[in-house]
Amino acid sequence: MILAGNWKMNMNRLACESFFAELSNKLSLPPQSSASQSLPSIEMRIYVPYLLLETAQKYADQLKTKTGVSLSIGAQNVHFELAGAYTGEISGPMLKEINVHHVLIGHSERRTYFNETNEMVLKKTESAIEQGLQALICIGETLEERNGSKTDWVLAQQLEALLRSEKLKPHWGKSLHLAYEPVWAIGTGVTATPEQAEETHAYIRKVLTVALGGTIAAKVNLLYGGSVASNNFENILAGINIDGGLVGGASLKVDSWAALWNTIHTVEKKRKSS
Ligand code: PGA
Repeated sequence: MILAGNWKMNMNRLACESFFAELSNKLSLPPQSSASQSLPSIEMRIYVPYLLLETAQKYADQLKTKTGVSLSIGAQNVHFELAGAYTGEISGPMLKEINVHHVLIGHSERRTYFNETNEMVLKKTESAIEQGLQALICIGETLEERNGSKTDWVLAQQLEALLRSEKLKPHWGKSLHLAYEPVWAIGTGVTATPEQAEETHAYIRKVLTVALGGTIAAKVNLLYGGSVASNNFENILAGINIDGGLVGGASLKVDSWAALWNTIHTVEKKRKSS
């Protein structure tokens, strides 16, 4: 399972420093039950603005030393070319140079405000994977599409080229995972109901199974995103096809972030014991 935060265009150095100082106190665990020892299968990631990557990376290292919790820091976007005349863009090799190995690709805000198409998402993902980066790809439908009963069709379209790519095939479930984020649930305070989320995740899993086979499809983490908060996360995670969350607003505050981290552990424990 993965708990991923998306800071979007928020925070600054000072806020980042206080966030990690407070987080390292909240996540402190006795050594014998440190999260990394008892629950190795849960990953924590935070996608931060480019200018905070190095700062956050430094604090993540300190967090690991102090609490045993491994936090991976990632970028929110990457260009598909490795270098060249692309003013304002950042490439995979630039991220790797500063030790950043994670990237979010195709967030709906990038698709909406920066006209990212499915084709660009494919190119970015192939390039990121070729560079050895870990990619989390976002897909999701708008309210109009859901109301028009087009959700499954839209998701299948968003996945089609990605699943056909021979370059990506060996990486699904390893360095390639997915976040389902209904656009109407992002930043709105309206979440998909647990039933809607599970139903949609089950559909995505089916599409993956047809394209990649059951064994690989089962290894792909399908994260739910869209107004995840400490008071709804446990219910959302009740869906067996939901392998974590991609969290915007609630990843900016230590209290809610730490609460989500505790919730995902509780759910993981229940799943393992059932
Ligand atoms: P939200 O954002 O949790 O604030 O709705 C989620 C996202 O956009 O990844």
